[in-house]
Amino acid sequence: MRKLTYFIACSIDGFIGDPEGDASAMVSLVDEELLEFFRTEYPETLPTHGRRPLGMDDLPNKRFDTIIQGRASYDLALKEGITSPYAHLREYVASRTLGESPDPNVEIIADDLVGRVRALKAEDSAYDIYLCGGSKLAGELADEIDELVIKTYPIVQGSGMPMFASGFSITEFALESVRTLGNGIMVRTYSRKR
Ligand SMILES: NC(=O)c1ccc[n+]([C@@H]2O[C@H](COP(=O)([O-])OP(=O)(O)OC[C@H]3O[C@@H](n4cnc5c(N)ncnc54)[C@H](OP(=O)(O)O)[C@@H]3O)[C@@H](O)[C@H]2O)c1
Repeated sequence: MRKLTYFIACSIDGFIGDPEGDASAMVSLVDEELLEFFRTEYPETLPTHGRRPLGMDDLPNKRFDTIIQGRASYDLALKEGITSPYAHLREYVASRTLGESPDPNVEIIADDLVGRVRALKAEDSAYDIYLCGGSKLAGELADEIDELVIKTYPIVQGSGMPMFASGFSITEFALESVRTLGNGIMVRTYSRKR
C-alpha cells in the first residue's frame, strides 16, 4: 500500500495561511537553502510553472507520482490561467461543483472521495501520493493520511486557516525525522500510528 502524505507549509502556531488561506507570508521566507531541500528531496512538490525559472524542469520525481488538491487550492492556479499546475504528476482535484475537468491531465473527483483515495493508495507504484491541501480537503481525508511532512516557518500568526478543517479528534503520529534549515524553517516527518 502506498502512502498518502500531507506535505504542507505552516506557521509555528499551525496555520497554513491567513484566515482566507493566503500563504504568501510563508512563501516570502523561501530562500536558497529551502530551494535546495526541494531540489534534492521533493522537486515534484513545486508547481510546474514555478520549477521552470528555478531550472528544476527536468528533475525526476523523487517521492510522488500523484497529487490531490481541493478545488479552492486548484482555483489559485486556474485564476492565473493555469489548468495543469502539476503537469509532472497525475493530478486529481476534489470538487462537487467544477463539473468537467478543464485539462486532460486533471481528473475531478466529485463522489466517494475516500473510496477513490483508497483505490489510488492500493495501486502498485513505487511512488506515494501528495496531498497538497487545503484545509478542507485535509480534514475530509484526515483518516486516510499515512504521513505528515510539515514545513514549519518561523512565524506566529495568531489566527488563520488551520492545517485540518475538521472536528476534534485525537490521532497519533510517530516522529520519524526533524531537519532544521539555517533560516529557521523546520521540516518534521511523522508517520501515522495504526
Ligand atoms: N500552506 C500550504 O502549504 C498550503 C497548501 C495548499 C493550500 N493552501 C491554502 O489553502 C487554501 C484553500 O484551502 P480550503 O480549505 O479553503 O479549500 P481546499 O481544501 O483547497 O478545497 C475545498 C474544496 O474541495 C472540494 N472538496 C472537499 N471535500 C470534498 C469531498 N469530500 N468531495 C468532493 N469535493 C470535495 C470542495 O470543492 P467544491 O466546492 O467545488 O465542491 C471544497 O469546497 C488556499 O488559499 C491555499 O493558499 C496552503
